[in-house]
Amino acid sequence: MSFQPIIQRFDSIDSTNIEALRQAKAGAPEGLCIIAREQTRGRGRLDRSWQSPADAGLYMSLLLRPKFEMNAWPLITLMAALAVYDALMKTCELRTDIKWPNDLCVNDRKLCGILAETVETALGTAAVVGIGINLSSEIVPLVPAEATSVESVTGRKPDRELILHGLLKSIAERYDLLHSAAGCEHIIREWCAHSSYAMGRRVRVTLSDKAFEGTTRGLESDGALRVESAEGRMKIVRAGDVTALRSTNG
Ligand code: BTN
Repeated sequence: MSFQPIIQRFDSIDSTNIEALRQAKAGAPEGLCIIAREQTRGRGRLDRSWQSPADAGLYMSLLLRPKFEMNAWPLITLMAALAVYDALMKTCELRTDIKWPNDLCVNDRKLCGILAETVETALGTAAVVGIGINLSSEIVPLVPAEATSVESVTGRKPDRELILHGLLKSIAERYDLLHSAAGCEHIIREWCAHSSYAMGRRVRVTLSDKAFEGTTRGLESDGALRVESAEGRMKIVRAGDVTALRSTNG
């Protein structure tokens, strides 16, 4: 049985993730969804900030209290990326590409980022899945040159509420599947089918202390990216940034 979304709306907030983490610690139930028109301290992966001007994006965080083994928790972000893929396809007829670990892109430009965080609570460990989708073309000049928005690529102003409800429905479906016996294999297979980065993509991997280049060779069972280095060694990437390189063999 899936969670029932409980939506709490804010005009302005520091970060929807921070608010969901606060409420998780205070005992909030699974399904709590914090949504804000604006964030003053939006957070991204690797301690980056996430530009969140008023009404230019969808900024939401969902509280989950998963019942599966801890080793499958990294798959929650992959599951969320697939749910964003579904929601944008259904509500905006927009096909996106998933870049490891969990960016959604169109023509290699990012329009959605996902930040999943865990927190210890009296009810057990909880996960907060934060999703930021660039909706309006106004946001693009504010973010790095590699970014885009739903409006920029579809030529239409998207309906934030429609996307939000589509997204919550897709997350609920995919989250249920993740709890099933073959859930993990299913998410990995689906993620690979929706990502041009999964297999045979020449990439540069930037870690905190070094960088290397190689070719992607699928995912490990916990969602880590396999990258074969130029010397033929398989490296398992669990953190860091991945950027596409131009293929040298045409
Ligand atoms: C990334 O790509 O680095 C992840 C960005 C995640 C941004 C979203 S916006 C809603 C939620 N609240 C936050 O502070 N961050 C996430």
